[in-house]
Amino acid sequence: MRRFSLSDGAVVLLLSGVLCGSLLAQSPRERISLDDDWRFQKDDPPGNTVSLLYDVRPAVTNQRDDIAADTPARAAEKLAASAQAMIKPWILPTGNSFIKDPARRFARPAGNWGGDVAYVRRDFDDSSWRRVNLPHDWAIAGPFIATGGGGGMGRLPSPGVGWYRKKLDIPAADAGKSVFLDVDGAMSYATVWLNGQIVGGWPYGYASWRVDLTPYLIPGAENQLAIRLDNPPESSRWYPGGGIYRHVWLTKTQSLHVGQWGTFLTTRQVSASSATVDLAVTIDNASRSNATVSVATQIYALDADSRKTGEAVAGLETAAAVVNVGASATVNGSVTIARPKLWGPPPRQKPNLYVAVTTVSHEGRTTDTYETRFGIRAVRFNPGAGIYVNGERVALRGVNNHHDLGALGAALNRRAAQRQLELLREMGCNAIRLSHNPPAPELLELTDEMGFLVMDEAFDVWLRQKTPLDFHLIFPDWHEQDLRALVRRDRNSPSVIIWSIGNEVGEQYTGEEGAALATQLCTIVHEEDPTRPATSAMNYAKPDMPLPAVLDVISVNYQGEGIRQDPEFAGTDRIRTPPQYPGFHLNFPSKLILSSETASAFSSRGVYLFPVSQEISAPVRDGRGGDSTIHQVSAYELHAVDFGASADKVFASLERHAYVAGEFVWTGWDYLGEPTPYYSSRSSYSGIIDLAGFKKDRFFLYQAHWRPDLPMAHILPHWTWPERVGQVTPVHVFTSGDEAELFLNGRSLGRKKKAALEYRLRWDEVVYEPGTLEVVAYKNGAQWATDTMKTDGNPAGLDLKPDRNEIRADGRDLSFVTVTVTDSDGRIAPRAADRIHFKIEGPGEIVATDNGDPTSLEPFQAHDRKAFNGLCLVIVRGKPGQPGKILLTASANNLRVGTASIITTAAEDR
Ligand code: GAL
Repeated sequence: MRRFSLSDGAVVLLLSGVLCGSLLAQSPRERISLDDDWRFQKDDPPGNTVSLLYDVRPAVTNQRDDIAADTPARAAEKLAASAQAMIKPWILPTGNSFIKDPARRFARPAGNWGGDVAYVRRDFDDSSWRRVNLPHDWAIAGPFIATGGGGGMGRLPSPGVGWYRKKLDIPAADAGKSVFLDVDGAMSYATVWLNGQIVGGWPYGYASWRVDLTPYLIPGAENQLAIRLDNPPESSRWYPGGGIYRHVWLTKTQSLHVGQWGTFLTTRQVSASSATVDLAVTIDNASRSNATVSVATQIYALDADSRKTGEAVAGLETAAAVVNVGASATVNGSVTIARPKLWGPPPRQKPNLYVAVTTVSHEGRTTDTYETRFGIRAVRFNPGAGIYVNGERVALRGVNNHHDLGALGAALNRRAAQRQLELLREMGCNAIRLSHNPPAPELLELTDEMGFLVMDEAFDVWLRQKTPLDFHLIFPDWHEQDLRALVRRDRNSPSVIIWSIGNEVGEQYTGEEGAALATQLCTIVHEEDPTRPATSAMNYAKPDMPLPAVLDVISVNYQGEGIRQDPEFAGTDRIRTPPQYPGFHLNFPSKLILSSETASAFSSRGVYLFPVSQEISAPVRDGRGGDSTIHQVSAYELHAVDFGASADKVFASLERHAYVAGEFVWTGWDYLGEPTPYYSSRSSYSGIIDLAGFKKDRFFLYQAHWRPDLPMAHILPHWTWPERVGQVTPVHVFTSGDEAELFLNGRSLGRKKKAALEYRLRWDEVVYEPGTLEVVAYKNGAQWATDTMKTDGNPAGLDLKPDRNEIRADGRDLSFVTVTVTDSDGRIAPRAADRIHFKIEGPGEIVATDNGDPTSLEPFQAHDRKAFNGLCLVIVRGKPGQPGKILLTASANNLRVGTASIITTAAEDR
């Protein structure tokens, strides 16, 4: 036994080797999913006269939603306080446990705001409201807003007010317990009432938060929950979604319990032979008397399915800790684990996980047990050489992703998020930047399990606004609570290696003032997690400006490659910056440098526009990669946003500056909203993978570079160009080999070798004739990989391929079915645009369809859809509790019908 450190009062931790299992009695803690069976209604009750607005809002006038992403953020409008009372004073106290200075915490006002509003009342009849299950995004069903503005936010009706009501059966035995409502995310400005009493709420739509229902609860009765959301227009630069779009939980504990996100495990002195785990546990006392508790924790290894394996590998036991009434106490301890299974990114490492099971006891009785998943790993930031995980240098081959899941909208679905990560992994991606907001907790569960490295980001704006009603309105009151909540929630995730406090914030332009604010935010991060660095993504701040000096890590957007350096940008009032890696490295020799955004290259899957640029990286213009009549960008993958660069250019600049830790590409997947350069569209052009999950050619450019050991070659464009016979039709090849020979109808068009800092092979003079293109790639002189592309016959049939033929019948698991228009030889018809009709039989339903076309305003819920360059996607879900066989049929005029069957199994069968 060893003595351990004391913190926050009389707490002594004693450490033993492995504890016996007796402390793992039945947990008095319950965490109950509240996802099912809500009633939902848009808008406030007719005739309502009570102001339910959170706070005064500036009027939005003449807002354009297609302003360039790197337009400097503007100062906030000064708003006069309203004479009319607003709901904010009832909401602010919800965040009190995330405000460090007790003097700054908020007192709940007297009274009961909104208690008379019909929708909050216990006796209100909501039987005519729509039944919904969570996660729910009210906007994804559309319809798309076809004309006028709205492209920035995805042309979907996310703004507005929505109400959710649910009955909670609380048994009489719950009297005396603490009962919390845990919301993983609700978009946005949530207010909660229970039995007509206002409880609290949380404005930031990406935050996870908790309200304490205990004082308003009637045990032994049916309790009525009502949640109002109010999603402002012009509040985002991308699609935010609307509604309770993540999971909701009812957490019941004894009054002596582990606080919200009340455990923190970190690891040090990590090696193959041993690792030290430090643990801090915060215990809350909601009882009526001071209490002496003991806290014990046992650590178990988890298997690949996150199940505990074997006996505990280590344990920590405490003697006694006094927790005063209404207060918290934190206990600390450490334990050494022999021969730890380390967490690290594949392919060379494995993401091994552990779980710490913490037991709180009072007078010999267990009052709480609490599980914390964590990983043991050593991450080292070497300013001269990049990031090392457990001693291995791991170049960041990362992407940015927004939170939406394409046709499923913002509503979280674990399988859809997993599919996004699986495809990225196939490309060789090993890192994700969660741009630009706190993610769903499940996303981090997935990155932990799959071994991605994560930059976890808090905000897109601070005090200065990018859109008139964005987070800047609540930043002054809420940044501390939101930032502490994010770090406390996510700090046990081994995948998180860096915290980002902001993205391209307007405070880059405010010199010392902006840097002072950044310092405050970094301090918050350090207080909550002293083990990881904080950064902020900079597209403007330069090495000699104050902001970078206060950050732990230099994180640049686009500046590494240089911004708008071509002569055509001379005289623009936009950012023009020569390449900045050397300048940052020189000024900050002790800070790691990485690129939090690179590329922002654009393309539409399967669209090839001629002539093809001779440049390797160029902005999109009509006749130069773009076509503003069809609103598509060429998939030759040479074009980018004005301030961006092609993938090739970024690869070269990273190779030239080996001290840079790597990149996060803008973006891995296409996302809803921000459809630069064509704002009449619904979704972005920047994804390496399109909105439906189909690979653009760029996927193979990254794969060739990021997985050099994978033999692969990829030809573009497709070879079905009846109108181009005799015309120059360049052929490019992406390969992990170093040279390749191209053949057209058996004739060699020459063997080419990649020069230094070249990432594609191009035969730019090929004259089109129908037939077969074949490429043979070589590596170190030996044949390495081949690819062929044939001229297609006419579309003849439909081929259906589910990504999984067997899914759980739980109403959540999904099968993503790729529907391909094929010619008579079964090859994709690369230009097919047939309208395809879908029919489903058996215990399943079509959740959504898509085709990855950014211009398509067809509703995602439609059961028919035009193919986009030969492909469509159907997302199928099994009906809960009805295992069986689903048959999906696709038909189109003059095409052979296609079918697919999907088996759904009872959850326990798997
Ligand atoms: C960046 C910005 C991203 C996105 C991107 C689009 O400047 O940080 O959020 O807007 O541009 O190209």
